[in-house]
Amino acid sequence: MDLSTTKRRALLKVIVLGDSGVGKTSLMNQYVYKKFSQQYKATIGADFVTKELQVDDKLVTLQIWDTAGQERFQSLGAAFYRGADCCVLVYDVNVLKSFETLSNWHEEFLKQANPVLPDEFPFVLLGNKIDIDGGNSRVVSEKKAVDWCASKGNIPYFETSAKEDYNVDEAFLCIANAALAAE
Ligand code: GTP
Ligand code: MG
Repeated sequence: MDLSTTKRRALLKVIVLGDSGVGKTSLMNQYVYKKFSQQYKATIGADFVTKELQVDDKLVTLQIWDTAGQERFQSLGAAFYRGADCCVLVYDVNVLKSFETLSNWHEEFLKQANPVLPDEFPFVLLGNKIDIDGGNSRVVSEKKAVDWCASKGNIPYFETSAKEDYNVDEAFLCIANAALAAE
């Protein structure tokens, strides 16, 4: 086996969690296919897409697992979470409830994935839909989100719009770096 090439390649498993309708699928579709649809189609179970990107001297393949926010469509066991290299939490800045449930998603992930060093496991938080009403309908301030991130051990935070393709590439580059560092 050629270690020098193996070292420069990585397959990274990323799991995207958050309430139904916050835009998990939309963010992924914008990032991978550069497409956005206004139409809502609930994700059922979980599915992944892959995206290759260059991070420094490494060719990284992100395996991005999109999951169902709706409880009745969730059917993921612990085996699904195991081996994850990064967990992306998404909420909608216009929906308070989606922010309040972040701690549950965070806790549930750690419980299921059961990483060796839970305190060091990389999460990234995305506050999505900042485009709506020019930001006038947001109910969660950036400060509130940043404070939550600090309380969980300095989780990186991005405000995004899957619709306007705002900060999506930047967020996923950070996700790739976080996953790579943890691998
Ligand atoms: P589940 O699959 O049920 O968990 O939902 P989801 O988190 O995958 O949400 P999805 O990506 O399907 O988006 C839900 C709705 O919000 C869709 O109608 C999208 O078009 C819309 N949406 C997603 N992201 C944005 C955004 O950044 N801005 C705006 N204005 N709408 C968005
Ligand atoms: Mg979805």
